[in-house]
Order: sequence, then structure tokens, then C-alpha cells
Amino acid sequence: MSILQERFEQLHALREQAQVGGGKDRIAQQHKRGKMTARERLDILLDEGSFVEIDMFVRHHTTGFGLENNRPLGDGVVTGTGTIDGRTVCVFSQDFTVYGGSLSHAYAQKICKIMDLAIKIGAPVIGLNDSGGARIQEGVMSLGGYADIFLRNTMASGVIPQISVILGPCAGGAVYSPAITDYIFMVRGTSYMFVTGPNVVKTVTHEEVTFDELGGADTHAGKSGVAHFAFDNEVECLMQVRKMMRYIPSNNRDVLHRIPTSDSPTRSCLKLDTIVPDSANKPYDIKDVIREVMDEADFFEVHADYASNLVVGFATLDGRPVGIVANQPASLAGVLDLNASIKGARFVRFCDAFNIPLVVFEDVPGFLPGTDQEWRGIIRHGAKLLYAFCEATVPKVTVITRKAYGGAYDVMNSKHFRGDFVFAWPSAEIAVMGAKGAVEILYRDDIKKSADPASAQLQYEAEYNQRFANPYNAAEYGYIDDVILPRDTRKRLIHALHVLETKVDSNPKKKHGNIPL
Ligand code: HXC
Repeated sequence: MSILQERFEQLHALREQAQVGGGKDRIAQQHKRGKMTARERLDILLDEGSFVEIDMFVRHHTTGFGLENNRPLGDGVVTGTGTIDGRTVCVFSQDFTVYGGSLSHAYAQKICKIMDLAIKIGAPVIGLNDSGGARIQEGVMSLGGYADIFLRNTMASGVIPQISVILGPCAGGAVYSPAITDYIFMVRGTSYMFVTGPNVVKTVTHEEVTFDELGGADTHAGKSGVAHFAFDNEVECLMQVRKMMRYIPSNNRDVLHRIPTSDSPTRSCLKLDTIVPDSANKPYDIKDVIREVMDEADFFEVHADYASNLVVGFATLDGRPVGIVANQPASLAGVLDLNASIKGARFVRFCDAFNIPLVVFEDVPGFLPGTDQEWRGIIRHGAKLLYAFCEATVPKVTVITRKAYGGAYDVMNSKHFRGDFVFAWPSAEIAVMGAKGAVEILYRDDIKKSADPASAQLQYEAEYNQRFANPYNAAEYGYIDDVILPRDTRKRLIHALHVLETKVDSNPKKKHGNIPL
């Protein structure tokens, strides 16, 4: 064998060695836990054969605790580029088979390098997390590595989309990198996130709690809102990450990528003509409206299990990706509460950062009253949603299907907040409040004095409804651009978005605003 051939063989052998991470036994253990390896996950996430690895030969340089005798190639994280539906993404995939996926200085620098590349080339970063946290033997070198990543997460925020997929442990300060990213995906049963684990919780607060209850997928997707998605297995989870990437651009300067559709842009949505019940107090499912209007009834819902009174997610209209924000009359009558406001605000800001037009469906009785909401800061948190809509400069179109009451009328992307087109269905009711409450305030004395208070109340309510339970009062002032038949909603939204394709709007120059956090 020539020297050159020997060198080729050496390269080949090293590459083979790198493929097995922490070794065959640990890979078997990983599989036994129902988890895939770092590389198997990338095979599912990325287009077939598209992954190109970098930094395969990186090793740690730590001594002590016997670490000098165990310096696996790659040091516990696989990094590189690949494609999803042909578009470049940067990825890192943490390898639990190497030191429990724990983060060393060398490992952190690999993640930082791929993030720096992503920022330079304008590609999304997708991080697959499965790690025991800071590599304990490295001490502050590891903590510094996390800080280096947090800084890049923050610098990249609003520049490139950042997606975190949690596929194993993610504990301690390590949770804060995913927390800064745009979307968190989790898998039931195998992934968890917490600042301190069940043992510390027991010592400090005397609470007995399992890993899953404390920080499992359903806990974060349903209770805390930390995660946006929870899936039953890794394959489904990674396939859904792929799907979401279709709706979002690669960076904040990229054009939106249209998704070809055979759904006619002028299709009538006849079903919508009968969807709003006659009684203003009866619910209907706003997701039925969304699916009827959007291309091929496809709606990619985000945060489905959290604050279900506000629905957010992605869809396309005549192939153009849009971000949808919709009150849900079928949950808490669509009222805006703390969690809904926070959920909506973050979604609106994501869409605005990445130039994704916003389509709003509005049917909202107002903000949720009560001590619980007030004491937990509905004023501060509710302000987030209105701030987000106010500052957004992307195309913004609203359809008022029924109630637009009180401050919530303003908040839900009203004309006053630079809403480009505001449409109302004939069933729209635009008022400071519902008839009952308004009449009780305006006519309290008259009703008390009347011979038949109950019928006086009803009489006043009828008058109030006559005046306000319609869209024409608002349309007289130009606060509504047009009153449309529900069946025409798809057609009118597509036209509006087409017209708005060349929209240019901006905010005053500033370092950054001060959104009420
Ligand atoms: C070094 C680690 C490690 C770590 C796990 N390992 N975590 N090595 N540093 N942080 C090693 C284990 O020693 C073991 O090696 C192998 O990885 C597999 O771990 P097991 O414990 O056998 O696996 P499992 O039973 O599944 O338990 C997984 C685990 C547990 C729950 C993650 O390993 C664990 O509690 N690890 C420590 C978690 C932690 O406290 N991390 C620090 C968080 S604070 P061997 O060779 O024995 O098989 C933090 C600060 C970040 O991260 C700050 C940012 C600001």
C-alpha cells in the first residue's frame, strides 16, 4: 500500500469510528430507551443524503477524572448542513452516547461555529437536544460554552429561524438556549426540560413529582407553554419540523416560498355562510373557518394545547404562507386572557420578524375579568399582544366574524393599528361591550323605575343591539373596509394579500422598543 493509500485508509477508519459515537453498546442502550441516535435523527430530519458534516475530528482537550483517556471523535455533538425540501439548514444533534451528551468547551465551540455559519449564510438552525447538561468535569469551561451559545441565540433571534427539538434530557441552565429559540418541539415519554430536577425540587419545596410531570412534553405544551409541540414519537416529531419549515423563510431577508396548490383562489366557501350560530352566545369552531378558507384545508397549528381560546398557526393562501391568529369561540368564548395574549404576541412577532403576512379572525368578547387575571398581570401581559400588532409592519388583514368588543376590538389587529384591510361578515357586532352589560350601566335607573323592569331591560337591549350588533356603524367611519359575505372570505383574503405584496411600512428608528415583558 502506498503512503497516500495508507492516508486514505486512515481517513476512512476515522470516519467509521466517528459514526459510532460512544460505541455500539451505548447505541444499543439508546435504542432500548426508545430513542434514536444523533445521526439517525438527522437522517429523518434532512432530505435523503443531504447531510454534510463538519468538525467530525474535534476532540476535547480536558485532563483529569480520566477524561484524557477518553477523547471520542466529534465529542458528543454532530454538526453540519443539510437540506429540507431542497433548502439549506444548519443543524446540530447532541449525542447522548458520548458522556451523556454533556456539553464541553469543544462541543460548545462546534455549536457556535455552525450557528455563526447559519447567521452568515442566512439559514435556519435546527438543534436536536439530548444532553445531561454542562460536562461536570470541565467546570467553568462548560458554563462559558453555554453562555457563548446563548449570546448567538440572541444575536440570531429575528435574523434566522431557530428551532429546538428536545429528544432527551434538557436540564439546568441548558434549557435557556431552547427557550430563546423560536419554536420548541418535544416527544412524550422521552424528553424533559426543567431548571432543577425532581430531587432538588423535593429537597427545596418538599414536593414529590416525576420527571414527566415536572417537565415532560405534555407539561410544557399544555401547562407552561414552554413547548409549542408535543408528539408521540421521534419520527413524527422530526417530520413535523420538516413540515413547519415549508411555511417559513430561511432568514429575515429571504422571500416567502410559495407552496404550489391546485385549490382555486376564487373558490367560494359556502359552508361559512351558515357557520355563525343565530345566538351570539353559542360557540362554533374557528378552526372550521380557518380550514375552509385556507389552501386544501391545511392548517399547521402552533401551541395547540396551550391557551386554546386563541388559535395560532401557519397555512397558505393561493400558495402564499400566512400566519393566522384567531379567537376561538369554542374555548372560553374566545376571551383574551393572560396566556392567550402571551401566545399571540410571540407568534405575531415571529411572523413580523420573518415577513410572514398576518391573517386575523376575530370573535372576541373582551379580556377575561377577575382577581386571578388582574393579580397575575393581565394589564402587562395583554399589552404584549397589542404592542406586537401595533409594531408589526407585515401585511395585516383582519376578518371580524362576530364579536369585536371592548379593548379586544382594538387589540385584534384593528384598522387603528395599521391593519391594512379589515373585513367584517354581516354577523359582526362591534361595540364597547355586549348588550346586557351596556344596558345595565346606561339605563340602570330607568329600568329600576319602570313598572316592568325585565321587559324594560329587554327593550333597551334590543335597541342597543339594533344600533351596535352590526358592522355598519364601524364601516361608516372607515374602521371596516368592507362588509363581505362569508363565502367570499377566501377570495377577498387572497386578493388583499396579492395587493399587499408590494407593501412597504416601517417604524421609527430606535435601538429597540420596550415591549412590556
Ligand atoms: C458529565 C455526564 C453528565 C454530565 C451524564 N453524564 N450527565 N457526564 N457531565 N453533566 C454521563 C454519566 O456519567 C454516564 O456516564 C453517561 O453520561 C450516561 O448517564 P446516565 O446517568 O447513566 O444516564 P441516565 O440514567 O439516563 O440519566 C441521565 C441524566 C443523568 C438524568 C441526564 O445523567 C444526570 O442527572 N446527569 C447530570 C445532569 C446535571 O445535573 N447536569 C448539570 C445541569 S446544570 P457513564 O460513563 O457512567 O456511563 C447545567 C448548567 C448549565 O447544565 C448552565 C448554563 C448556564
